[in-house]
Amino acid sequence: MYNFSAGPAQLPKKVLLKAKEELLDWHGSGLSVMEMPFSSDEYKQISDSAYQDLRKLISLPDDYQILFLQGGAYAHFALVAMNLMGANATADYVQTGHWSTRAINEAKRYGQVNIVASGEQSGFTHIPPYDRWNLDPNAAYCHITTNETANGVQFHRLPNTGTVPLVADATSDFLTHQIDISKFGLLYASAQKNIGPTGLTIVIIRKDMLDKAMDIVPAVFNYTLQAKNNARVNTPPTYSVYMAGLIFSWLLDQGGVQEIEQINIRKAKRLYEAIDADSFYHCTIEPADRSMVNVCFELDNESLATDFINEASSNGLINLKGHGVRGGIRASLYNAMPLEGVEALIDFMQTYSKRHAYKEFKKILARA
Ligand SMILES: Cc1ncc(COP(=O)(O)O)c(C=O)c1O
Repeated sequence: MYNFSAGPAQLPKKVLLKAKEELLDWHGSGLSVMEMPFSSDEYKQISDSAYQDLRKLISLPDDYQILFLQGGAYAHFALVAMNLMGANATADYVQTGHWSTRAINEAKRYGQVNIVASGEQSGFTHIPPYDRWNLDPNAAYCHITTNETANGVQFHRLPNTGTVPLVADATSDFLTHQIDISKFGLLYASAQKNIGPTGLTIVIIRKDMLDKAMDIVPAVFNYTLQAKNNARVNTPPTYSVYMAGLIFSWLLDQGGVQEIEQINIRKAKRLYEAIDADSFYHCTIEPADRSMVNVCFELDNESLATDFINEASSNGLINLKGHGVRGGIRASLYNAMPLEGVEALIDFMQTYSKRHAYKEFKKILARA
């Protein structure tokens, strides 16, 4: 079975088996990770190695800090604004789809939000060209959503925002391809796509972005306070951190982000080629901005979408239904999806389209 869910998503089998093996007794401690005090030596070991492995995976410079927090990216839409807007309370936002719109709506409650570019008029089928962004040099930061999970558009090149720090929601493509983290003032991501189970939100912050929080920020979501306390102001999501640690070590075993990126490129290329080669399917996203991880497409005959999804499901290809905002089909190809899963989907798509083309042909013959 292959699970194309957009999240919570498929996890590597090897990681699940390891978690199963360690579920009742972690490394002879007699405890499940779920039962450990977060101040214990055992949990400290688990947490420290997760932090270290993540640093290694993204070659994190010393002036950045990783915080394992909670709340989900949706909470951090508001928290980013509360923690970073500072005295001017002004920030730039780029609107590229469903999730950046949500981020904008949350940030608006805490200050002035300038929508410096938007793909709304085109139905979010592209990333607005950088030379048309109306950036404000006095903005506290410029926020982008590196990959729009619901719409299937992705930044394949980072914008240059000058002296204004770049802030990104990287929930759905973090660790799927190499990034130059030094280009960001802050980056955040919910875990449930490429990092592990839900419950953990990763915030990576450059140290000069600290000390700007509004008084109203709850202590547990105050990035400065959490940074000073190594993200232990309250109980961290211990089991999710443990699972993320297993994923990080699995990724390192695969050869790191550099290697997984090559596989991800092959997966996405194969699927988009199959879509473009068959007039039964189409993808309306500008080819240069198509997401490598959330491949959104439609059937030419939209009324067949539910039948397609159901039949795919009974063939072991599950969770292909598009997000409610755009419908159609969405195949999420996160790190844990093997190339064989994509090949199985392509085989199914080809068989399905041939069968329906034949049915159409027979109908035309009957009418003639
Ligand atoms: C890009 C993006 N941002 C934010 C979110 C919201 O994440 P959460 O539900 O964990 O708060 C999602 C969820 O799918 C997402 O894909």
